[in-house]
Amino acid sequence: MSGMRCRRCRGPAAVEVRRHNAAFCRDCFVHHVHEQVRRAIEGFHMFSHQDRILVAVSGGKDSLALWDVLLELGYEAAGLYVGLGIGGYSARSAEVVRGFAAARGARLIEVDLAREYGFDIPTAGRRGGRSSCSVCGLAKRYVFNRAALEHGFDVVATGHNLDDEAATLLGNTLRWQTDYIARQYPVLPAEDGLLRKVKPLFRLSELETAAYAFLRGIEYVVEECPLVAGNTQLRYKEALNLLEATSPGTKAQFFLSFLERAAPLFARQDEVELRPCERCGQPTTGRFCAFCRTRAQILGERLAPVTPPVSDRDVAAEASEEVLPAEIHGGGAR
Ligand code: AMP
Ligand code: FES
Ligand code: ZN
Repeated sequence: MSGMRCRRCRGPAAVEVRRHNAAFCRDCFVHHVHEQVRRAIEGFHMFSHQDRILVAVSGGKDSLALWDVLLELGYEAAGLYVGLGIGGYSARSAEVVRGFAAARGARLIEVDLAREYGFDIPTAGRRGGRSSCSVCGLAKRYVFNRAALEHGFDVVATGHNLDDEAATLLGNTLRWQTDYIARQYPVLPAEDGLLRKVKPLFRLSELETAAYAFLRGIEYVVEECPLVAGNTQLRYKEALNLLEATSPGTKAQFFLSFLERAAPLFARQDEVELRPCERCGQPTTGRFCAFCRTRAQILGERLAPVTPPVSDRDVAAEASEEVLPAEIHGGGAR
């Protein structure tokens, strides 16, 4: 870094961003990160200063950096931490997230999977028909949406960065999973019972979010989840980093050009119809949602509707004039 000058103020540089062929001093780098996030939010109409934002925070550098940036930019952003029950890793993550929220006076919502739903991720991996990572992803998506709806938020934000998105796109492209490619976008609009989901860090690389967290003095959990070791996503990241080392900008080119030129070609034509899960009320295409089905399998329970099926409901409504339809349906997705 010695001798390099900040692109913005010409002072001594602290961080080099090879992709932009630029270096920044501490303050100007923080400004650069805020600018990239602002561009993402505005360019994709992610949310406004009137929206209530729920940031899903894992305790890692990306999601805590995101929460920090949104608070710095003056957004109304609360945090959501999902306790996955992965031993010391989850315990340390929870501590870090609580510490961050306390230091900023920000609101933090916690959902403990074992307490709320009766299982943790290591158990799920041993008992269910899916891998622990796949149950984990399913459970997180489910809890993000459900908690955000129950607490009246407008949008859910996650800390996925450029490296995450490029690696996912590479994986989806290698297998030509066109339906996944169609949904790989920094903003997914709300549908029946599903809140809008956004990824405001998609313009920033992992190195940039790490440097930001460091320069802002954000304490975060450096260790990776012990269950992901050797996962394919990591190999795709390594492959992209290999290309990036000799051609800086490859990663950004791959993903940002996809958004600009290729994503529209994959846009879904056939809109699927969503309806409330008969067990939990969250949106699904079938009778029961994938989370309730997986949970029943893990717990060895039979999956039964919580509310009576429609035909019985009609009978019940006729039998008692006291019962209003709204009460019978109770607890469904809004
Ligand atoms: P991952 O699926 O671990 O790559 O994480 C992707 C994003 O999901 C992170 O940037 C966070 O926004 C969110 N996330 C991951 N784990 C958790 C968690 N335990 N609680 C809340 N949000 C999480
Ligand atoms: Fe989900 Fe490790 S964080 S399996
Ligand atoms: Zn359900």
